[in-house]
Amino acid sequence: MFLLTLLAALTSVIVASPTIAPARRSLDGLLSQTISSGCSTSGTASCTNTTAISNTCCFESPGGLLVLTQFWDTNPSTGPSNSWTIHGLWPDHCDGSFDQNCDPSRDYTNIANLLTSQGASSTLSVMQMFWVDINGNDETFWEHEWSTHGTCYSTLRRSCLPSGSPTGAEAVAFFQTVVRLFQAIVQSFNIFGALQAAGITPSSTATHTLSSLQSALQTAFGVTPAFDCSSGAVNQAYIYFHLKGSVIDGAFVPINAPRAGSCPSTNIKYPLKSGTPTTTTVSHASQTGLPATATIRTLTSSGIVGGLLTLGTWSTQTLATMTLSGSPSGFTMTSSKGPCAVSGGSLNCGSGVTPSTFTAVSSGGNTLLAFGGSSSWTSDGVPSGTTVFTVFSGSSHAQDYQLVIT
Ligand SMILES: *[C@@H]1O[C@H](CO)[C@@H](O)[C@H](O)[C@H]1NC(C)=O
Repeated sequence: MFLLTLLAALTSVIVASPTIAPARRSLDGLLSQTISSGCSTSGTASCTNTTAISNTCCFESPGGLLVLTQFWDTNPSTGPSNSWTIHGLWPDHCDGSFDQNCDPSRDYTNIANLLTSQGASSTLSVMQMFWVDINGNDETFWEHEWSTHGTCYSTLRRSCLPSGSPTGAEAVAFFQTVVRLFQAIVQSFNIFGALQAAGITPSSTATHTLSSLQSALQTAFGVTPAFDCSSGAVNQAYIYFHLKGSVIDGAFVPINAPRAGSCPSTNIKYPLKSGTPTTTTVSHASQTGLPATATIRTLTSSGIVGGLLTLGTWSTQTLATMTLSGSPSGFTMTSSKGPCAVSGGSLNCGSGVTPSTFTAVSSGGNTLLAFGGSSSWTSDGVPSGTTVFTVFSGSSHAQDYQLVIT
């Protein structure tokens, strides 16, 4: 009874939550990279160009259909019992064909050492938990993923790197990007969580239809992945992206899977994993209470575009670090300029401001900033460069968006 009530409560929260504009979310900027490409992330997305683009250091080609593949391994089990694990990030051609093993001269060994020596040990620790080989040969698995797939990215060629980059810097960038995407997935594209939200949890007896798995993810993410099955059990998921800019630091735009996976339409098992659940995934407010500090990013229908500055305005310049105090059901927000409030309809932060009480709303795996029960925000336009726009609560101005607590 309690469970049913809880489920009903959860369902109503999900239904009542605002829908994130589907299919066009980009996940740029959530984690930092060691090197930067110097490429714009606002140009044409890979595989969507209508004429040839000459600079393939900043435009992924021919492998512009990027696939983040994740395993659900149960025999034997790999990784935490409550998380899918990383398989790889593959550069398919726009038509679904692909290249492999593109540059044996860059088949690096000792990836763990490469990451540690180039300042990416936090990436390595995520990999040790979530990018694990079914036979325990993690290092060999990582080397294989780099040499087989990573060497085929046009934007990761040596000649595209900043001058003076150490040997292997592009492989470090590759692993950082995959972890960056996967961590974004833990927050925003969490397969385990999305299935769970639809009442689909691992079980030794239950079976599922393919459409129930797909609609659970469509509801949570706005895009449909492909699922592969092995011996009647779901075993792998494929999330597809187009890319704006470089694999090093580009904006990944999720798209619907352009192909069907191998799962049958009915009687799909989702078996239990042995092992222990993890609590070390990226935390967000709906699970752990509010983060003490956060940046607030603006999620428009075409992806994340900048966020809040210290005065509470919207820009693509350096974002404010906000201090959040309270709980998701009621908190105040303060920037280096002072407390933030909505007054006269607009958001302002400053020393003379009487703080407003905000709430955090969980939606599609994101935690959204809400005021007065609404997580809709609006401005007169979309900033770029040094432009700054006033942020209004509600949706009465030209540009609607949501504010994501990250
Ligand atoms: C897109 O750009 C790539 C790289 O220049 C090129 O190979 C491809 O033919 C272009 N696609 C179209 C439809 O022009």
